[in-house]
Amino acid sequence: MNTILVGAQWGDEGKGKIIDVLTEEADIVVRTQGGNNAGHTVEIGKEKFILHLIPSGILRAGKKCVIANGVVIDPVALVQEIEGLEKRGIKLAGRLLISETAHLVLPYHRKLDEQRELRKGRDKIGTTKRGIGPAYGDKAARTGLRLIDLTQPKVFSAKLKIRLEENNAILESLGGTPLSFLEVEKSYLEAGKKLRPFVTNTVIWLHGQLQKQKRLLFEGAQGTFLDIDFGTYPYVTSSNTTAGGSSTGSGVPPHRMDRVVGVMKAYTTRVGEGPLPTESAEVSDMLHAMGREFGATTGRARRCGWFDAVATRYARMVNGIDELAITNLDGLDSLKQLQICIAYECRGKRLQYPPNDAEELLDCRPVYRKFAGWQESTTEVRHFKKLPAAAQKYLNALADLTGARLKIVSVGAQREQTFSVA
Ligand code: IMP
Ligand code: MG
Repeated sequence: MNTILVGAQWGDEGKGKIIDVLTEEADIVVRTQGGNNAGHTVEIGKEKFILHLIPSGILRAGKKCVIANGVVIDPVALVQEIEGLEKRGIKLAGRLLISETAHLVLPYHRKLDEQRELRKGRDKIGTTKRGIGPAYGDKAARTGLRLIDLTQPKVFSAKLKIRLEENNAILESLGGTPLSFLEVEKSYLEAGKKLRPFVTNTVIWLHGQLQKQKRLLFEGAQGTFLDIDFGTYPYVTSSNTTAGGSSTGSGVPPHRMDRVVGVMKAYTTRVGEGPLPTESAEVSDMLHAMGREFGATTGRARRCGWFDAVATRYARMVNGIDELAITNLDGLDSLKQLQICIAYECRGKRLQYPPNDAEELLDCRPVYRKFAGWQESTTEVRHFKKLPAAAQKYLNALADLTGARLKIVSVGAQREQTFSVA
């Protein structure tokens, strides 16, 4: 059984936690897109781990993890993450494999990301400033550097020299400061040396594992509405965050995928700019007052709103979601009344799916269906049937309106606070 796990909203659905749980039934966890813009939080007992590039499957002993070709890698950040985990006693040797064709994020990507955001002013995307867009831009423009280059110092230095000259000129024209070749070369080659034992042809390795009937779990980063093709463009990230990205990002063909699990919060959140039809000050204030919904990567307060079934319905379609994992139910425990957005009213029309034009989406008004709250804590509940009746009703409505089967519910940050719905 090979499983794809995707975010069905705008990212931060709690994927790290669900992957950690699903990893129990998998042998290998594979990251296929995005970079260290992602932040996956997993809490085990008193320990809290925030992972950016390494699949959270690494926290389960014996499981193997792959950073596949579709990911963009900041090698210096990756080495920091590896060393951070090793310091906490997590052994990575022989358990982490990194694709030699994954593209590198270079310091000029980060600087360009920053400069372009600055120049956009009020129209900024609100990126994580990790250089993700410019790195994927270079990949598509065929001017990128890859791990296979970094592990060959001479090749890397020669290519870097040319790339740095061009990018320094661009940076200066945008008002940024140029980068020193020697500094970048030194820090990157150092990181390259540390990464070398992990770097391999992951396509061939993964196919070898498939032949041995190993079970793969594809860990999506970000979410459906941050997808470069299906998201609220241009307020998106630069990769395919939806199910198809797992195949192109790993070389594991689509017909080997058996199941798609969509993760969504029991409400909606988004970090960064762009339309969010169900955004609500009431929901934001309540969650922030509880100390919830601050970004794992940038610490920014997330924008919050009511559950948007128009969005998740589309996410189910694009990803082919079979099963749903609903997280953060406990965030709604105190509410007297809840709302779910079931359609949009937009320019005189009623819409069942989100429009592709960001301007039109800004004009959309949610049509809400009201639900009674349960006003009791769900954090100790471990069986669906033990949830308050109003919470069961609410969860069933989320699944029905999205059009997929409810499979997992989570009521807190701890590993144990997750249960299967039979
Ligand atoms: P970028 O991926 O840094 O270019 O940012 C593009 C948009 O995606 C911004 O709105 C970010 O806030 C958002 N974004 C990127 N990665 C994540 C994530 O892991 N969770 C939530 N939002 C993200
Ligand atoms: Mg996150």
